[in-house]
Amino acid sequence: MRRALVVDDERKMRRILQIVLEGLDIESVAAASAEEALDAFGKQPFDLVLTDLKLPGMDALGLLPKLRELDADVPIIVLTAYGTVQTAVDAMKLGAFDFILKPFAVENLELLIRRALDLRRVHTENLVLREQAAQVPAFENLVGSSTAMREVYATIRQVAPTRSSVLITGETGTGKELVARAIHKLSPRADHVFVALNCAAIPADLLESELFGHTRGAFTGAQADRLGKFALANGGTLFLDEIGDLAYPLQAKLLRVLQEGVVERIGSNKPMSVDVRVLSSTNCDLGTAMREGRFREDLYYRLNVFHIHLPPLRERREDVVDLARFFLDRFARELGKGPLELTEDACRVLAAYDWPGNVRELQNLMERAAVLAKGGQVGREAFALALPSSTSGVVQAPPVQSDSFALEPAVEDVERKTILRALGAASDNKAQAARLLGVSERTLWYKLKRYGL
Ligand SMILES: Nc1ncnc2c1ncn2[C@@H]1O[C@H](COP(=O)(O)OP(=O)(O)OP(=O)(O)O)[C@@H](O)[C@H]1O
Ligand SMILES: [Mg+2]
Repeated sequence: MRRALVVDDERKMRRILQIVLEGLDIESVAAASAEEALDAFGKQPFDLVLTDLKLPGMDALGLLPKLRELDADVPIIVLTAYGTVQTAVDAMKLGAFDFILKPFAVENLELLIRRALDLRRVHTENLVLREQAAQVPAFENLVGSSTAMREVYATIRQVAPTRSSVLITGETGTGKELVARAIHKLSPRADHVFVALNCAAIPADLLESELFGHTRGAFTGAQADRLGKFALANGGTLFLDEIGDLAYPLQAKLLRVLQEGVVERIGSNKPMSVDVRVLSSTNCDLGTAMREGRFREDLYYRLNVFHIHLPPLRERREDVVDLARFFLDRFARELGKGPLELTEDACRVLAAYDWPGNVRELQNLMERAAVLAKGGQVGREAFALALPSSTSGVVQAPPVQSDSFALEPAVEDVERKTILRALGAASDNKAQAARLLGVSERTLWYKLKRYGL
């Protein structure tokens, strides 16, 4: 039977926690202070600690390091009141497994306890078997336990239950869409749809109808009534990807919908009320866009009620190897191969690289390594080729046609060559090439197709 330690100075709260634990078949011992907790912890092993943040005398922040000394990886869940969330985040930095806000729904606490015990089990199995356990995502398909990512998880947990807008920023490939999906999945809307719309992928004149819908005959080509994404996402979540690319006139319309909660289809003046939670993302700097008058400030504040920033991978290098292992595991399984292990040397090389294409680039690299792997070991040579050590991969562009003054072909020629150079510099990684070119991946795709590249 598993055993938990409950620390709270309030008798009633201790009782509630003990009842919840009992329901999960977990034996528990209660302590009314940090000192009592340490005393109990010294006497017998525990699989889990539930502690209130505020305690008389030593608080949870003081208690945490002391517990860690006694047991390096017992999961510790901190209970906190609304005003003390920042301190709870500090507790997570000290190694708490998670925190939960009081008052809490019993199901949420139960879920957290189960997750904590799962983690504990994986740790123990690891120790006992001395084996590389399958890499499990740290949080809702998101891998990485760097301080930065743990803060991201904490924010996701905090914003998910609300219906507030969240703006997710970060370089290309940092996981913005994954975060949006996690927010939806942890929200009360999880049973409804998650609709994603990439604002950069659709020409401006079609985007309006894509967002708000149209009626038959509203414009040439509108052959039937059509619902927009807002209507489709009713009850659920709408994820507006690359919001920075939204044309200025559409920004005003979007703002109206967000403010009033009603959409009007093009060609109709019957407003339709919708209940949609809007998440958006961008990899461009909206601050600059606002200063330059390309993005409306009022819309920005509407979208940015909460902000989650995903730091580039090079700023959280401690996640690189975890991510690499996770992807290798996954691709090996998909390919029906046995487990693949990274050599220490390979880990060092990966951790040192700058990852301009971030997690997506790492994922592509691991896919390639998994396909090519022979035997169970993946060494640095598996991806030496893909690490852009020089620009030797630059593709030669065809010669310029210089016997004409026509502007368009000349511009296209320069465009094509620049794309080829970017692809060369990015070792064919499209995400990275798009970033170098300063265009969205969709735009790049479109251009590649157009130039037959
Ligand atoms: N923390 C993570 N754990 C696991 N997989 C991740 C993580 N971050 C990103 N990925 C994976 O990397 C890829 C890129 O992530 P995602 O599409 O969410 O990035 P993005 O920030 O939206 O990029 P872009 O700006 O180019 O659209 C996806 O396949 C995603 O599953
Ligand atoms: Mg994206």
